[in-house]
Amino acid sequence: MSPASPSSSSRRGRPARAPVRPRRASLAARGLLAAAERDLQQIILDIHDGPVQDIFGALSQIQVLRHRPELQTGDASVVLGRVAASLERALGEIRNFIGAFRPPEFERRPLGAILEQLVVQHESLTGATVDFSLATPLPDDVPLSLKISLYRILQEALANATRHAGVTSFEVLARADRRHIVVRVRDRGRGFNVAKVLKKEIDVGVAGGHFGLRGMRDRVAIMNGKLSISSGRGGTVVTIRLPLS
Ligand SMILES: Nc1ncnc2c1ncn2[C@@H]1O[C@H](COP(=O)(O)OP(=O)(O)OP(=O)(O)O)[C@@H](O)[C@H]1O
Ligand SMILES: [Mg+2]
Repeated sequence: MSPASPSSSSRRGRPARAPVRPRRASLAARGLLAAAERDLQQIILDIHDGPVQDIFGALSQIQVLRHRPELQTGDASVVLGRVAASLERALGEIRNFIGAFRPPEFERRPLGAILEQLVVQHESLTGATVDFSLATPLPDDVPLSLKISLYRILQEALANATRHAGVTSFEVLARADRRHIVVRVRDRGRGFNVAKVLKKEIDVGVAGGHFGLRGMRDRVAIMNGKLSISSGRGGTVVTIRLPLS
């Protein structure tokens, strides 16, 4: 028991300090609750951006098989191969969550390498050409939560540029100043009405799609950062600015 516990204080006739402790405790509890809520939101986003996408992919391939019984064995086995690959990816992601709720290699790899690898992976999966550059070196000691957030946000921005901009090449630039990491994704594609898209408050959920920009916005808000998206006829520029601490 600590010397400042309420029972020892009151025995000596000093004013009880108990009222202070519950307040401190409730502040701490509130802090913990806020952190738990933040973690929960991140888990939801990670599940949407990871395994849910892969399981949808697998399901739609299975629908192809169900609705096209005329498919020859060879074609059917190609589709089944895709189903297996999607499910394997989903399983890998879920294992990561269960293991440590985070991709373990993120802990030790520098942020610049993580972002670059994501870009290279995106290029090989989609055939897009992405001009990736580091305008300044990125610091070595970046918190894990920032690495995971930036990875997910960039993943969505790359996907959007490839899926919606109507271009096959675009650029990603990352830099750091003393207090922030800044990542900018710029495409010279068809552009879109950002305010209109973000205004739609209907809860479309995962099945309805259009979850990506809101997910980016939420992730940036959780990290106390800033997200700016400007878009028009000349294309789209997405800028993510996250504080280092
Ligand atoms: N770089 C871009 N160029 C053109 N249009 C874009 C771009 N990024 C987003 N959009 C538009 O904004 C819409 C909303 O994007 P958002 O990422 O929220 O949803 P989505 O990509 O359609 O679905 P998902 O939930 O799988 O991300 C897109 O459907 C598209 O019309
Ligand atoms: Mg999207």
